[in-house]
Amino acid sequence: MKYVIITGASRGLGLVVANTFAANGWSVIGTGTSPRPEQLVSETMYYQFDNSDYDAANNFWQTLKNEAGNDPVCLINNAGGYKGGKLQELKPEDYVSQMQSIYFSAVHMTRGLINNFAQAKIVNIISSTGVTPLANNSAYGPAKTAEAHFFNSLQKEYPPEQYQITNLYPDKMATSSQDNSAMEPKDIAELILDLASSEKTLYLKDAFISSLKH
Ligand SMILES: NC(=O)c1ccc[n+]([C@@H]2O[C@H](COP(=O)([O-])OP(=O)(O)OC[C@H]3O[C@@H](n4cnc5c(N)ncnc54)[C@H](OP(=O)(O)O)[C@@H]3O)[C@@H](O)[C@H]2O)c1
Repeated sequence: MKYVIITGASRGLGLVVANTFAANGWSVIGTGTSPRPEQLVSETMYYQFDNSDYDAANNFWQTLKNEAGNDPVCLINNAGGYKGGKLQELKPEDYVSQMQSIYFSAVHMTRGLINNFAQAKIVNIISSTGVTPLANNSAYGPAKTAEAHFFNSLQKEYPPEQYQITNLYPDKMATSSQDNSAMEPKDIAELILDLASSEKTLYLKDAFISSLKH
């Protein structure tokens, strides 16, 4: 059995990714802090906990290790809310919560994985904003930059044969954006499925994803 763990599967891109993998024969485990969403297909598992809590994350991975044994595992770090606004509109706690939900969720879920599995694929949904700063993103953007830096460091710490780490930097997606050029979550989900399923002798390390729509 091939296992995929999708953080932030209660809505948005994560929910679409979870259902896409389930439709393609993967054993799917989603996470989120809110209750299991009705739209998640019934054969998937769902764990409700705060992914930025290290102990909770590590407990989750120990439970999964008992279930998955040495079967292939793919972690998709997708969790993270968005809080935009000008510096003086944002509250000090917004800066903390963006780091928690984006950066610490990715750090602790990845540490838990590496503590328990000797080999895995890891796909990270970062954001083009993590590389190219935008106005009104002074809380969100740096959390994404920190997340990217964390995974770029891990890419140098571990050989890809052991932990194959792919960082994706999408532009706007139609999960939250009403912009007509926003990308469809199902298209990104299919791209992630291809990456996770690939048995090629190469892999994608860092990639920007842009829309063909105008
Ligand atoms: N939307 C865009 O235009 C866009 C563009 C580029 C990159 N991205 C990135 O792509 C990813 C998905 O975006 P989206 O628009 O689908 O986001 P979304 O609709 O806001 O969903 C975010 C998900 O993260 C979960 N989450 C947040 N904090 C969590 C925590 N501490 N522990 C566990 N789960 C947590 C949420 O679940 P709960 O509420 O249940 O906790 C939710 O399922 C995010 O990382 C986002 O930054 C989005």
